[in-house]
Amino acid sequence: MEMTPKQIVAYLDDYVIGQNDAKKAIALALRNRYRRMQLDKELQDEIMPKNILMIGNTGVGKTEIARRLAKMMDLPFVKVEASKYTEVGYVGRDVESMVRDLVSNAMRISRAKFEDKIQKDIDKEVVKKIVEILVPKLPKNATQSSQDSFIKTYNTMEKKVQSGSMDDKLITINLPKTTHVEVFDGANPMGDMSMMTDAIGNMLKNAKNNTYEKTVSVADAKKLLRNVVKEELTDEELIQKDAIANVEDGGIIFLDEIDKIVESSSNKGQDPSKQGVQRDLLPIVEGSSIHTKYGQVNTDHILFIAAGAFHISSPSDMLPELQGRFPLRVELEALDESALYKILTNTKNSLLTQYTAMFGVEGVKLVFTDGAIKAFANLGARANEKTEDIGARRLHTVIEKVIEDISFTADEKSGQTITVDKKLVEQKLENIVQNEDITRYIL
Ligand SMILES: Nc1ncnc2c1ncn2[C@@H]1O[C@H](COP(=O)(O)OP(=O)(O)OP(=O)(O)O)[C@@H](O)[C@H]1O
Ligand SMILES: [Mg+2]
Repeated sequence: MEMTPKQIVAYLDDYVIGQNDAKKAIALALRNRYRRMQLDKELQDEIMPKNILMIGNTGVGKTEIARRLAKMMDLPFVKVEASKYTEVGYVGRDVESMVRDLVSNAMRISRAKFEDKIQKDIDKEVVKKIVEILVPKLPKNATQSSQDSFIKTYNTMEKKVQSGSMDDKLITINLPKTTHVEVFDGANPMGDMSMMTDAIGNMLKNAKNNTYEKTVSVADAKKLLRNVVKEELTDEELIQKDAIANVEDGGIIFLDEIDKIVESSSNKGQDPSKQGVQRDLLPIVEGSSIHTKYGQVNTDHILFIAAGAFHISSPSDMLPELQGRFPLRVELEALDESALYKILTNTKNSLLTQYTAMFGVEGVKLVFTDGAIKAFANLGARANEKTEDIGARRLHTVIEKVIEDISFTADEKSGQTITVDKKLVEQKLENIVQNEDITRYIL
């Protein structure tokens, strides 16, 4: 993963319109990580990441940028809503769960990488196990000639098993008593859930010292033995080490809704839990060692990207120490009519593409004229002006309102082409947008 800042921005451009400052800041932060890793260890330790604070209205692409980045790069990434830590029941330690989630995520990446690497070894070992069942072992005192013929038979059988020509033959294999259970250890939002699944996993592991025999086709044996062999060949310790290193040097935590844990200066002191969460966050952002089930994780070099609308409060209302840990501030601009138009026409997997594909399932060809798209953008921008500015999310409501009826009966229109033009859009929406009160409720 050594993309240049330009390449990163170019990638993001395919999905997010505008917001160049934010894209640049993030691209640079990522490149700086790469630069840092090329330096001497001593200097490496000195160079701290420049955490980023993204400030912008709702629906202008803050989360979208982070989401795309995570997809693009094989870096450990988690997104957490800072506001969730103010909820009843959350206390200090729970803030650390974001780091634990990050490690779980890294484990998945490292495990996938490892399994990829041992793929060939697994295949070989599975074949070996099967051939050993098919070709009877040679007694210790076998003559030279029977040894020679054994090797020949063995090699022939190996080729046959590999090629699949033995797939229908039945053999008896040994399997662990409890077949491998994939214990869910994903990025589940409830930190404690992972502890529980872990405990269950261990229970299962302990219970499977015994093996049992099963008679299956060679084809099925290949599948069943794969899991067994994979487990045998998997080096958990190595995976964990790799994951922790990956988190410490490449991890990214996206702290969404950070403004929800910041009180405006006029409201100071009304909600102590907010200040509390900021204080709990501080050591993690500042760099500390956190205990996870895979080992200690040092958070010094984890990159934090915080985002918030900051309508009521401002970044300067944050605890000064926390402010200081987000030195890079970028503002995301509001989306005007032309930006909304580009979002519909110039992004990969845009809303229109999605609708067209969904109608395609019904055998209906859905076509949007350019006039219709311009009308979506125009009416969306006007609705944003008249009521709250909810950014690109407005497009969802606007388009849905127009498509709703067509969509309801699409299954009856198989084989037809349905064209959405300017007239249709205006007919469905003009009245709604004209009337502010109705807009508020309908769009
Ligand atoms: N600049 C943009 N370019 C393309 N699509 C965008 C842009 N901004 C927003 N969108 C689309 O609008 C939706 C909402 O965007 P996103 O989730 O990024 O909002 P946000 O800025 O995080 O808002 P909030 O403050 O409410 O969390 C997404 O579907 C996203 O694809
Ligand atoms: Mg968001």
